[in-house]
Amino acid sequence: MSVLAIDAGTTGVTAVVVDPDGSIAAKGYQEFSQHFPHPGWVEHAPEEIWQATLEATREVLAKVDPSTLTGIGITNQRETIVLWDRETLGSPRRAIVWQDRRTAEVCDRLKAEGHEDRVRELTGLRLDPYFSGTKLTWLREHEPHTWALVESGRYAVGTVDSYLIARMTRGTWHVTDVSNASRTLLFDLTTGDWSDELCGLFGVPRDALPDLVPNWGEVGTTDPRTFCGLSLPIAGIAGDQQSALFGQTCFDPGDSKCTYGTGSFLLTNTGTKLERSDCGLLTTAAWRSPAGETTYALEGAIFVTGAAVQWLRDGLQIVGTAAETAAIASAVPSSEGVVFVPALTGLGAPHWDPHARGTILGITRGTTRGHLVRATLEAIAYEVRDVLETMPTLATLKVDGGAAANDLLCQVQADQVGVPVERPRIVETTALGAAFLAGLGTGVWDSTDDLKETWQLDRRFEPGGDRAALDRDYARWQQAVERSKGWALL
Ligand code: G3P
Repeated sequence: MSVLAIDAGTTGVTAVVVDPDGSIAAKGYQEFSQHFPHPGWVEHAPEEIWQATLEATREVLAKVDPSTLTGIGITNQRETIVLWDRETLGSPRRAIVWQDRRTAEVCDRLKAEGHEDRVRELTGLRLDPYFSGTKLTWLREHEPHTWALVESGRYAVGTVDSYLIARMTRGTWHVTDVSNASRTLLFDLTTGDWSDELCGLFGVPRDALPDLVPNWGEVGTTDPRTFCGLSLPIAGIAGDQQSALFGQTCFDPGDSKCTYGTGSFLLTNTGTKLERSDCGLLTTAAWRSPAGETTYALEGAIFVTGAAVQWLRDGLQIVGTAAETAAIASAVPSSEGVVFVPALTGLGAPHWDPHARGTILGITRGTTRGHLVRATLEAIAYEVRDVLETMPTLATLKVDGGAAANDLLCQVQADQVGVPVERPRIVETTALGAAFLAGLGTGVWDSTDDLKETWQLDRRFEPGGDRAALDRDYARWQQAVERSKGWALL
């Protein structure tokens, strides 16, 4: 018995097969294109996400015996909004990605009209272009022909999980879960359902939205004609950050994790209590059991961390792979005063400034790519510290995601936050969480206690360094952040 998990992230799709001992038996991965049609805009072609899903799945299936699979779990980049034709499953336009800033003005307008407090009260979120709601408002205002077919019921609206499930089931199912729904600005956390009031505010017909299902338990079955010959129950769904929280077995209130992906996301389980923050953290649904009990989390969402490394690779072309950044950065003793604020898509927690833009300060004639690469890794650690400063002190910081494999980053992170950083043996925790959900849903594991036993430590990074010097560096970072704010408005 084993489970298949699909992690449809922002940069690419990972497919893994997970065995009952929690180990990854096989893995496949396929990157897809990022489209930047205007400065600040980010789009993905839904068909490319689907093709990458098929490719990653084929790769993993070639390495295992598919007859041992009990079910499939799906996890995904959240907030990104996809439209598709309910009949043909083709998409009339590209998806608008969570990092896209085009709706900053819609947000400013809604704030000026006085809606922010009510939106925060109902959703636990903020009026920021990050979330799906204003992306749909923008479509309604700018693409009326497309929107008319949303209104008429021909086009479905959903997050990436819903889209993939529609593709896998040939349009039979149009569903999502609370972890994804709670990122749309259309979901009322206090009632646990879509909100007519919010749908009215953002101009979205409620009928266009998916039905809500629990995070584990069988939903529908994949159609072998479209999905790699597999007829498998879809038995787990979660947005990627909540999935990573599950994959790190953070089942108890106070349990926390930090995932380094395209962005970085710190989540703390708050149990069945809705907790709110005055310091820029979001309140979000973590998961809902088949019995209907919802667990919540507080979240610090940082938009650009791994994406900054991707920009060094694809934009500046000064590194060949993300993996080589540790060696390049280690070749210089420090960043020698170079500070990079990677506000490439504005700033998320705790600053929330959609008008901020990337800023590099302190360059001299002696600056080399080593300094810039090191400044990029340090920026990731500073951004995480910015969020941790708003949370109660943690005893340890559990990390995961691709960049957690970078020893230099983990050490700089521990030094900066002053608490030990713990890295588990498996850093693909997002996919692991989806596998855990699907395995709970199909009887591979009986309880969360069984899952806890699979967690294993790889390495613990103890904080070190000269505290006063580290704090001075951090203070310089904070000044640089201030300078990056509001830049797009100038
Ligand atoms: O909220 C955005 C998040 O879901 C994206 O995650 O892993 O693609 O950086 P990731």
